[in-house]
Amino acid sequence: MTTAKTYKTVKVEREEGITWVILNRPEKRNAMNPQLHYDMLDVIVELETDDETRVLVLTGAGDSWCAGQDLREFFRALDDKPAERRRAGWASQEWRWRRLFTFPKPTIAMVNGYCFGGAFTPLIACDFAVAAEDAIFGLSEINWGIFPGGLVSRVLADAMCYRDAVYYILTGDPFDGKKAAEMKLVNFAVPRAKLREETIKLAKKLMEKNPQTLRAAKEVYKLCRTMDYAQAEDYMAAKGTALRATDPEKGREEGTKQFLDEKKYRPGLGAYQRRAK
Ligand code: ACO
Repeated sequence: MTTAKTYKTVKVEREEGITWVILNRPEKRNAMNPQLHYDMLDVIVELETDDETRVLVLTGAGDSWCAGQDLREFFRALDDKPAERRRAGWASQEWRWRRLFTFPKPTIAMVNGYCFGGAFTPLIACDFAVAAEDAIFGLSEINWGIFPGGLVSRVLADAMCYRDAVYYILTGDPFDGKKAAEMKLVNFAVPRAKLREETIKLAKKLMEKNPQTLRAAKEVYKLCRTMDYAQAEDYMAAKGTALRATDPEKGREEGTKQFLDEKKYRPGLGAYQRRAK
């Protein structure tokens, strides 16, 4: 099923709980122009509260995932238009980082091809990344006479080890999906022919879990990383209480009952049996 809304630069397709968000400028290798930033911001805001979306997969049309910022339309064309530059720049940061990083359901970057420059921000904002073995990644900014800006250098510090990050920022050398998996920039890489199937497998695994708990688990992990120990301890205690109070499935009680009283499952080995709401 496809959403009622249509966008110039993005396609949205829904299938059994997975919403496929497809960057759709294949003729420009899905480079991000201002229109794409506005479209993506709208798409993500809509999907945050869309009941049919249980897992979001971000991918690209054609042979590219995303060729980074559009050098013609996002950079050169806005050089002498400060107001438009600011507006497009804000939308660009808002969807690629803030909204995607805190999206209330699990997100998977399915990297089907080129991933350059500014594309590293949404890559790292997604909870998971799965790549085609032959996908090509590159921090190519150095080749353009710029450095990885926006938030790229900052998010790289979270997602790559120090030596690898400095190496690729300064050389601009491209690397493939296999290497990205070896460096843990992506969770795993698979032959291109299996990419969709393996992504669906991961999405289905996530859909077996309690959605409220998934949301809380990602929020807690992502936010705690920049807190000190006292703040993290207090925040997690409060968040745990909030989760118990707001979880419509009452997952904690249900899981405990199924393990201790009904002896139906082993929590270390799989999700508790969720009942239809
Ligand atoms: N910005 C603007 N246009 C782009 C971009 C981009 N980032 N990437 C590709 N395009 C356009 C090309 O200009 C070309 O347009 P045209 O048909 O009007 O001439 C079209 O997409 C196809 O590009 P080709 O280079 O012909 O495609 P090919 O498949 O041979 O190569 C590749 C693809 C490797 C992605 C190449 O286009 C490339 O190196 N692009 C730049 C990638 C990059 O360095 N991005 C980082 C930008 S800086 C930043 O994001 C902060």
